[in-house]
Amino acid sequence: MQDDDKRLAAEAAVAEVQDGMLVGLGTGSTVRFAIEALGRRAAEGLGIMAVATSIDSAAKAAAAGIAVRNFADVAQVDLTIDGADEIDARLWAIKGAGGAMLREKVVAAASTRMVVIADATKRVDAIGAAALPVEVLPFAREFVTARLSRLGARVARRAGLTDNGNIILDARFAVFPDADTLAVAIDEIPGALGHGLFLTEVDAAYIAHDGIVTRLER
Ligand code: 5RP
Repeated sequence: MQDDDKRLAAEAAVAEVQDGMLVGLGTGSTVRFAIEALGRRAAEGLGIMAVATSIDSAAKAAAAGIAVRNFADVAQVDLTIDGADEIDARLWAIKGAGGAMLREKVVAAASTRMVVIADATKRVDAIGAAALPVEVLPFAREFVTARLSRLGARVARRAGLTDNGNIILDARFAVFPDADTLAVAIDEIPGALGHGLFLTEVDAAYIAHDGIVTRLER
């Protein structure tokens, strides 16, 4: 059921893709459905290329028959389709449970339009219950941990490394601070390379619940 909703939301977003577009592909289990749908449209003759926000999505896109460009060669993306861990009515989102939020934010910033796809479990009244992932230079691990703690977070280091060779610290807040202030505060920590607060990037969201897709537009 949840997978059916993920697929429906993904297909609604992929319907926005037009011939000639450079499409940004997010990361995660919902995006996997978008990649499959986009692959089907490409097989039917839609002339698109893609950039991917993770090694995993690049591999899935290539397997689906989608031509993937190296984002390092790209300055502008037409439409990016990505998932989220939480999204609210203001289209504020927390991303990064899949660990790709740094590349996802870069690609989102490069995009003319960014669309989030999600099943209804991701739709919240106000973001902040999910862990907020922060990608951190390994060299700065304890320093950034201390700075995040000072902001009121309980901090846990996630196992493994990101596609960029960095670590992730998951920050949880008993009471979520003002999101704008928090984003600025984390942006100002040297060694914190990126975080999962997306407050300005999302232009629209397709949220599916029991087979019905709702579109939210900024
Ligand atoms: C990865 C992300 C994902 O888009 C987010 O975690 C949602 O993933 P899923 O669709 O698997 O629930 O931000 O960094």
